[in-house]
Amino acid sequence: MNNKIKKIIRKKNKSKIICLTAYSKNISSILDNHCDIILVGDSLGSVLYNYKTTRSVTLNTMIEHSKSVKMGIKKSLMVVDMPYKTYRNPKEALKNAKQILSKTKCNAVKLEGGKKIINIIKHLIKNKIPVMGHLGLLPQSETGKFSFKGKKIAERKRILRDAKLLESAGVFSLVLECIEKTLAKNITNSIKIPTIGIGASSHCDGQILVTDDLLGLNPINVKFLKQYSNLRRIINNAVSNFKKDVRKTSFPKKKHSY
Ligand code: KIV
Repeated sequence: MNNKIKKIIRKKNKSKIICLTAYSKNISSILDNHCDIILVGDSLGSVLYNYKTTRSVTLNTMIEHSKSVKMGIKKSLMVVDMPYKTYRNPKEALKNAKQILSKTKCNAVKLEGGKKIINIIKHLIKNKIPVMGHLGLLPQSETGKFSFKGKKIAERKRILRDAKLLESAGVFSLVLECIEKTLAKNITNSIKIPTIGIGASSHCDGQILVTDDLLGLNPINVKFLKQYSNLRRIINNAVSNFKKDVRKTSFPKKKHSY
């Protein structure tokens, strides 16, 4: 097992795992100093490309963004989402995962789902592809209105069972998306691999957010999000100052000219 992955697993019950998304080198090079894991999430479909769902994201789009992200990373573990319909069976998943790893030089891939895709995940791991799991709200499977998971007993049992199945299949960590807090706690305490929460309470071993949301670049309003900056306002001010300078010919000055 890769040393970076071992280091992530060892953090369980010791220190919280810091994880954020990146879609480009300018962002990943800033995150790298702070994060344990940088995820090239297929959330880029809605955040950057304005797709209605992540289902329209292609393998090629993920690979090109990941190549850019990789350029900004020196120390963090880099994980890339396998997009929709790229892991419908073990053979297809292995071919595409190998392509992602070889073209982007990332450390691992992430797949959404539990029991339904367990044989696919086992096949990847048997072939030395490190895999991060993803349970709870699964954006590739749900196209309607998103809501949190763990309201019903049957659903709670299924998600806990899936977490245990993924752990025994060999995934090195598990994203829990939009999961009720006592269920997230129960899962985290029931498995030895770290859980990384997004809308899944502070009981998880680590936290992830979509960086564009955290920075206030992507104007969304969801309960689990804390916006740490308002980059839209900052960019707006900078661009407005540029416009004023150009109009009154105070930019460019002599020092900006050849
Ligand atoms: O696609 C993504 O950005 C994700 C995170 C929200 C976990 O899967």
